[in-house]
Amino acid sequence: MSTTQPTSASPNPPANARLASHPHGAPSSAAGKHPAPPCTLVIFGAGGDLTKRLLMPALYNLAVDGLLDDGMKIIGVNHGEHETGQWREGLHDALQKFAADKASTFHAGKLDDHAWNWVAQRLHYMAGEFEDDDTYQRLAQQLGGDAQGNVVFYLAVGARFFKPIVERLGKAGLLKQDANGGGPFRRVVIEKPFGADLASARDLNQHILSFADESQIYRIDHFLGKDTVQSILAIRFANAMFEPIWRREYIDSVQITASEVIGVEGRGRFYEQTGAFRDMVPNHLFQLLCMVAMEPPNSFDAEAVRNKKAEVFDAIKPLTPGDVVFGQYGTGPAGVAYRDEPDVAKDSQTPTYAAARVHVDNWRWAGVPFYLRTGKRLAARHTEISVQLRRVPFRLFRDTPVDALTPNVLTLRIDPTHGTSFDFNVKTPGPVMQIGAVQSSFDYDDFFTEQANIGYETLLYDCMLGDQTLFQRADSIETAWAAVDGVLHPGDGAAVRVQAYAAGSEGPAEAEALLAQDGRAWRALTPGEPKKS
Ligand code: BG6
Repeated sequence: MSTTQPTSASPNPPANARLASHPHGAPSSAAGKHPAPPCTLVIFGAGGDLTKRLLMPALYNLAVDGLLDDGMKIIGVNHGEHETGQWREGLHDALQKFAADKASTFHAGKLDDHAWNWVAQRLHYMAGEFEDDDTYQRLAQQLGGDAQGNVVFYLAVGARFFKPIVERLGKAGLLKQDANGGGPFRRVVIEKPFGADLASARDLNQHILSFADESQIYRIDHFLGKDTVQSILAIRFANAMFEPIWRREYIDSVQITASEVIGVEGRGRFYEQTGAFRDMVPNHLFQLLCMVAMEPPNSFDAEAVRNKKAEVFDAIKPLTPGDVVFGQYGTGPAGVAYRDEPDVAKDSQTPTYAAARVHVDNWRWAGVPFYLRTGKRLAARHTEISVQLRRVPFRLFRDTPVDALTPNVLTLRIDPTHGTSFDFNVKTPGPVMQIGAVQSSFDYDDFFTEQANIGYETLLYDCMLGDQTLFQRADSIETAWAAVDGVLHPGDGAAVRVQAYAAGSEGPAEAEALLAQDGRAWRALTPGEPKKS
């Protein structure tokens, strides 16, 4: 989200430069943007899924857009005795596969050879154990000694490696940069999960910040890289029609859904320890909540935006076990039970579904519940935010055949469709006053030729530019975990029970009951069809 313009690099767009999908301003071509400054990107976890599925496609897209400097270098560090040629080939095959897969978020079409070769020439593999000091000495040599050149260290590794890697980078002098920010930069990108609760997140922050400054740390939440998520601020603040009604006087409630059709996809080991609530709620879903709830910042400056978000986290009323419902999928129309997935315990109590009622206790939002839900193996894939307005008074219609007025709902669709829909009421044609509920819908695809990016392009590019707007600050990470700590560590006997739901359904019945307590109901995941429970 930076407005900063790098100065040091000359553009070198590979052939076939497509239109840029970066969120600044109206549809613009890559020609209007500058490449990031020259830097070396060191990826720890070069052989992992994240590198293959998200980082490489994003780097390829950035290369196609001409947003990487000619002096860019990418060093992949991983345990395992591969070599550069093998690594490149594996990545090339993976990219080709994703490009051919219509369901993939990598909308590259046919892979452009020129762009791929541009990236491939810059890829270098380095075998090394993450917890071995020798790895860091060799890395230092590859980087040309202490503090030479810009470097971004990307931790695409399991959370248990965050501390040891940052510590060794620090001790090897690889995080040293000019205190006044003048010389080459050293930055560290850290994936989620950032901690597993408040205590571990605090501990992780403390540890990392003893080797690097907060300004060097880029904590990723990939939802913030999505154009449709960044667009929430544009929708709210670049239009006159929303802001006046964006408050408790007019809004009844907000529903935030991230439902998935897929199961744990071979990530049983990770998921058993994490579960749906930790995996999605205090990070991705809270970030969406923040985009809806934050006050307008005075600029897109990183601190201006992050301060406003911090205020929202701070105003979240701590959740109690009574505010959440956990579920776990059993066998159903969509497949086998979670407990029958590989690397999952037969008596697992790990939630694959979580619903929560959240209150933001400030002047704008007091009394407006935010209902959050997420789950795997549900009836449909939707990431969306629905803002339901209050009911209008019925007095005018009392002497007409109209028996009910449905409330207006503004839905911001984030994935897999991208756009907004607005539900409102009109008079149906004919001599009698009757009301019909209609919907007006906008789809990005109908207006813009650019494909939505896969999220990591913006985040990588912003990190190379030094723009932290879309990254999470230490204090906000901790306030988010603090808000859910009462659910993760409830008092004796208050632990949240995990309710069963059938794979392919709308989730557990108890989640319906959570909203029914408040006289509300979840929006159907498959509208028009009877709810599958
Ligand atoms: C990840 C979670 O952070 O986000 C996954 O670990 C989840 O479990 C994924 O599937 C969802 O992201 P997206 O962009 O596919 O909606």
